[in-house]
Formats: sequence, C-alpha cells, structure tokens
Amino acid sequence: MGGVMLSLLLLLLTPGRGLEFRYHDTIEVEEYLLFINKTYPNITHLYSIGQSVQGRELWVLALGSSPRRHVLGIPEFKYIANMHGNEVVGRVMLLQLIDHLVQGYYSNEPLSSRLLNSTRIHILPSMNPDGFEASDTNCVYSLGRFNQNGVDLNRNFPDSFSGRRRQQQPIQEVRREVEVQAVMDWLKTETFVLSANLHGGALVASYPYDNSNGGRELVGGASVSPDNDVFVHLAKAYSYNHGSMHRGDSCHISKPFTDGITNGYQWYPLPGGMQDYNYIWAQCLELTLELSCCKYPPVNQLPSIWQQNRAALLAFIKQVHLGVKGRVFDSSGIPVQNAMVEVSGRRNLCPFRTNQHGEYYRLLLPGNHTFTVTFPGHQAVTETLNVPYGPDLYSAFTHNFLLPAQPTASPVHTSTPPCNHTPHWMPLDGGGPTKRPLWVGLSLVLGLGMWLTSLLY
Ligand SMILES: *[C@@H]1O[C@H](CO)[C@@H](O)[C@H](O)[C@H]1NC(C)=O
Ligand SMILES: *[C@@H]1O[C@H](CO)[C@@H](O)[C@H](O)[C@H]1NC(C)=O
Ligand SMILES: *[C@@H]1O[C@H](CO)[C@@H](O)[C@H](O)[C@H]1NC(C)=O
Ligand SMILES: *[C@@H]1O[C@H](CO)[C@@H](O)[C@H](O)[C@H]1NC(C)=O
Ligand SMILES: [Zn+2]
Repeated sequence: MGGVMLSLLLLLLTPGRGLEFRYHDTIEVEEYLLFINKTYPNITHLYSIGQSVQGRELWVLALGSSPRRHVLGIPEFKYIANMHGNEVVGRVMLLQLIDHLVQGYYSNEPLSSRLLNSTRIHILPSMNPDGFEASDTNCVYSLGRFNQNGVDLNRNFPDSFSGRRRQQQPIQEVRREVEVQAVMDWLKTETFVLSANLHGGALVASYPYDNSNGGRELVGGASVSPDNDVFVHLAKAYSYNHGSMHRGDSCHISKPFTDGITNGYQWYPLPGGMQDYNYIWAQCLELTLELSCCKYPPVNQLPSIWQQNRAALLAFIKQVHLGVKGRVFDSSGIPVQNAMVEVSGRRNLCPFRTNQHGEYYRLLLPGNHTFTVTFPGHQAVTETLNVPYGPDLYSAFTHNFLLPAQPTASPVHTSTPPCNHTPHWMPLDGGGPTKRPLWVGLSLVLGLGMWLTSLLY
C-alpha cells in the first residue's frame, strides 16, 4: 500500500510544485482523491454520492476542520464541475483548489486556513465521468456533453416553472438520470448554503433564474428571483476576483456581458437546470460559472487558467458567510426543525426552513432585514436585524429566534408540510384561450433558440 501511494505521489505530484497541470482521467482523479484523503485525514473526508450510468463513483471530497460531520454554525459549501463531460476546465480547477487548500492549511497560509476553519467545503470534481471519458478535445462542439444515456444533465432536474397553464393534463414525469438523482439525494444530506456549478465554452457568471413561465418573475427579459440582489453580488464576487471575467468578453458568441455576469434566463432560457433546483428546492444559492471560451483548452494553458481563477474560487467560498445564521428554539428551549424563516420582501417559491438542528442560513447583503419566523403551535416572531458584511469576518451574523408558545387553545399542528414539489405555474396576466396562439408561437421560437444554444455551454 505504501509503495502504491509513493508511486502515486510521483505520478500525480511534481515534487515541491503541487499537482501536475494536465487532464487526469477518472482513475487518476480517484487515486488522487484517495491519496489526499489518506494523507490529510484531519481536514479531508472522501465519500461517494453514487455512481454514473457506467458505474463510475461520483466522489466528493469534503474539506474543513471537521470534515466528517456538520458543526453547528459552520456553513456547508459545494463546488461541482464537469456536469457536461466535455467541459473540463472546472474539473482541473477543483483538483488544483483541493491541492491549494490542503497545502495552504498546513503551511498556515491565512486564507486557506481561515476558510477551512470556518466552512465545510464539498468538492465534486466530476458529475459526469462517463461523459468525460467519451469526450474529444474540441473547443466548441464535441462528444461527451451528455451522460451515457445521451441526456443533458443540466436539463434533467425537476423544474418549478414547467407545466401546463391549466390543470387539464397531468405533468409529464421526466426520467431522472442516476447522476441527477445522486445530486438530488446529496442535497438532502446537508444544509448546503452556497454552491457553484463549473462549466465551459463561455466566460461569465450566470445566476438564477434560468427559466420562467411568463409569470411575475419575468422583468425586462430577465427571470428575476426574490434574492436577485444577493445573486448579482455573488456573481460579481466571482467575476471581479477573476483575472478577466469582469471585462465581459463574450468569446464572440453573444453580446458582451456587463461586469462578466448575466441572469441565466436573459442569456438563454433553460428548463430543468441544476441552479434553479438548488435555489428553489434546496435553499442553496447556486451559480453557473463558465470558466473558459474553449471547453477543452490545450494543457499548456492550464497554469494560466488556474492563475485567472484561483482568487475567484477562494473569494466565492468566502461569500458563504454573507447574511445571518442561527437557530430557532421553541418555548422550552428545544431546537425546532421545519420552522419557516422568511425575510421581508423576499417571497421565495419555497420558504426557507430550519434543518434538523433548528439551524437556518440566509445570505443577505448588509443592511436592515426584517425576519419573520413561524412554526405551528407557536406565536410568530418578527425582528429586524442590522446585518454586517460577514465574509470579512468569516462568519455570518449570528442570531437565534425564540418562539413563545401559542397562548390560545388553537389547534396544534405537529408539523408543517415541506415545500411540495409540484410545479409553480402562474397564469399569464389576462391569460385565456385568445392568448394561446401567441404563447404557443413564442414557445416555438424560444424552443428553437434554446435547442440551438443548448448545444453550446
Ligand atoms: C479516507 O481515509 C480514512 C482514514 O484513513 C479511511 O478510514 C477511509 O476509508 C478513507 N476513505 C476512502 C473512501 O478510502
Ligand atoms: C491530526 O490530528 C491529530 C489529533 O489531533 C494530531 O495528533 C496530528 O498531529 C494531526 N495531523 C496533522 C497532519 O496535523
Ligand atoms: C484554525 O483552527 C486551528 C485549530 O483550532 C487553529 O490552531 C488555527 O490557528 C486556526 N487558523 C486560523 C487562521 O484561524
Ligand atoms: C438600520 O437600523 C439602525 C437602527 O434602527 C439604524 O441606525 C441604521 O441606520 C439602519 N441602517 C441602514 C443601512 O438603513
Ligand atoms: Zn455546460
């Protein structure tokens, strides 16, 4: 075993210089992750969230000062790459990031140490290893985007916006791919707070929503979420810490991106995407980061691409400390699961709720925010909090809520139903049969555009 590890070390690491810059295949990535897990047991923990269609493990490396389990008040963060198997830069970046964090922690480099002390970071270097193994090295179009069943994984998540205008027909059940199901199950195991999904073929930070059904969220061609201010801030945190993304280079594929960021829908509508699912149903704010114009750049460009992204990848993790965190307790001091924690002016499609430890995390920009916390059988509590800028302190502002018991003898519900996963479907204003042809026509045009752009990023 020691001999195997030593030869591995020689295979993967350039002595004194860290992880080699090249495209490690699935077996090499697995060996590297096993090596890291074995070498740094105090700050890393390797686990699998499932297998790909062809049976490759979907390995996740957790990093932090308590890598094996959640600690109260320590937010859970994640990075996912290579969901499109032929978009390979993110996968390289995440392996480099792992190397940087573990080396940094043990050489007392302040940023890495503080991040690992204050955050639990989960890294899935490849969500689509089958696609990666099937890819060719084309910059634009290539094999390997889809999983082994030919499905685009970033169109395969449940979509809150899709459905029918009227309830005449049941919503079609989409067959969930195993890689998508693995991520959906993973989201239930931790209270993820912030996440990014790394892609390639463009250079931009894209944020929710990616989809719309023509309801009130549609504003000026963008599909605007209740946390839009936070998403814009998060996207800029990436683009402005990146070597060039903020300049808005479009890679000659579209209009320049102001500040190097875009609303997902405004760029092109996308049903069944992972970022909307994370945000709407897992209360995890997720961005889609497009890291390079070329999806599969030559190996000799990898060091400079890492230089461009390193500070941004670290700065983005720090943003998990925005806003407010804390716990909700009932009148007898017991933490309450499933309490609704709502912030005034933000009508989330699924309200944010406390986890099994009674914890909540709300990413918010600095300023005064009014919270209302509700739980059946208890009086609602409303409090206004003056929220500082948490990232610089490596901690969100901590505030606990205490719920007084309901004084009247009103019926006591023992649990609140979780957000049901039925599609959210708002009729168009003044909608009716007369507007249908226009809507169908629009859908066709949008559909064609979507099909064309869907092959790109
Ligand atoms: C990671 O390392 C720990 C501690 O050495 C070990 O118990 C565990 O089995 C390793 N995980 C994997 C997936 O090999
Ligand atoms: C890991 O933690 C143990 C127990 O706290 C400690 O003795 C050991 O030195 C640590 N290892 C490293 C590499 O820091
Ligand atoms: C991180 O935590 C360890 C253990 O508690 C501590 O020794 C170290 O000083 C901390 N590092 C930073 C940068 O806060
Ligand atoms: C927030 O409220 C406090 C106390 O009421 C007030 O002093 C402060 O100016 C407010 N801050 C902002 C940004 O409105
Ligand atoms: Zn992509």
